[in-house]
Amino acid sequence: MRRKTKSCCSPSCRPPAGRRGLPALPAALLALALLLLSGCGGGKDESLRIGAALYTQDDTFISAMAQDLEGLVREAESGTGEKITLFIADGKSSQSTQMDQVDRFLARGCDVLFVNLVDRTAAAVIADKAEAEGVPLVFFNRQPVAEDIQRWDRIYYVGADARESGELQGKLVLDAWRADRETLDRNGDGVLQYVMLEGEPGHQDSLLRTEYSIKAVTDGGVEVEKLANETANWNRAQAAARTVQWLEEFGDGVEVIFSNNDDMALGAIDALADTPRDRWPLIVGVDATAPALEAVAAGQLYGTVHNDGRGQAQAMMDLALALWTGEDPELADGHYVWLPYRQVTLENLDEFLED
Ligand code: BGC
Ligand code: CA
Repeated sequence: MRRKTKSCCSPSCRPPAGRRGLPALPAALLALALLLLSGCGGGKDESLRIGAALYTQDDTFISAMAQDLEGLVREAESGTGEKITLFIADGKSSQSTQMDQVDRFLARGCDVLFVNLVDRTAAAVIADKAEAEGVPLVFFNRQPVAEDIQRWDRIYYVGADARESGELQGKLVLDAWRADRETLDRNGDGVLQYVMLEGEPGHQDSLLRTEYSIKAVTDGGVEVEKLANETANWNRAQAAARTVQWLEEFGDGVEVIFSNNDDMALGAIDALADTPRDRWPLIVGVDATAPALEAVAAGQLYGTVHNDGRGQAQAMMDLALALWTGEDPELADGHYVWLPYRQVTLENLDEFLED
């Protein structure tokens, strides 16, 4: 049952409407507490039920987000005394499995859905199912096209701007080149020779990180030469296998390894660690996962770009609570919440290790 539609929840016992601004969690918690004090909640059927569908729980970044969501639910529960149930479903990289999971969430009466699509082109079908049941839908991490988001005014996307992550990654490399070109330009030809480890084909983060990382380097006036690029599907073992092949093919000719995420950068590091050599290429990733931060500390990963999964999980919870309590969330273009990316190198590593 959606609290907004419960008869006991007259508008007078909801928080003031018309306040623009996605509430920080404490504000949303306060709104929940007010609802309870006013006698609107407490019964079991009054609990907030959230259904979260993950594309696969095997993905390092996504499974960390799922843990963050679980933690945030516990925090919100203890802050309000209200029961909040989070159902998590693992799509195991199958869109048809995920469709069934969404159907089950709707049949169970979930009040809001969080969907991390397996296949971005399936967004419209899920959007229509949610709209038919009147259940708000928050897509995250895998961004549907704008037309799909605009199908209904209660469809949202929480994420980070993929283009920004590419630009920041490229700038890490550009700065390294400017600071110590002699070391980076191993063959001294004034050109930066690179390989690119790409995420899943068709994922906005693969396409835009690949494009904008290189653009940042060339916009900085550095000539580049692509030796090879291939997808490793965000996966560490696949990236290690690709890197082994490239090392055999190009040897020390690889000056930089760009990776669309940290897991694949760690795969490249695994491959290099297995083939002892005097100097490693410069390696950059995206995400700032815990093992990647360790690799930065160890000097194996030059840098990464912090993808704020916790911030995204928090924004999703804030949105769910705001929708439930009838608050008016702050959104970009009526549908979006964007979290910023940040560069990470040895210099500012401490700020991220404390997280
Ligand atoms: C992350 C990857 C992750 C992918 C999953 C990206 O934003 O950077 O690590 O595998 O999302 O969709
Ligand atoms: Ca060179």
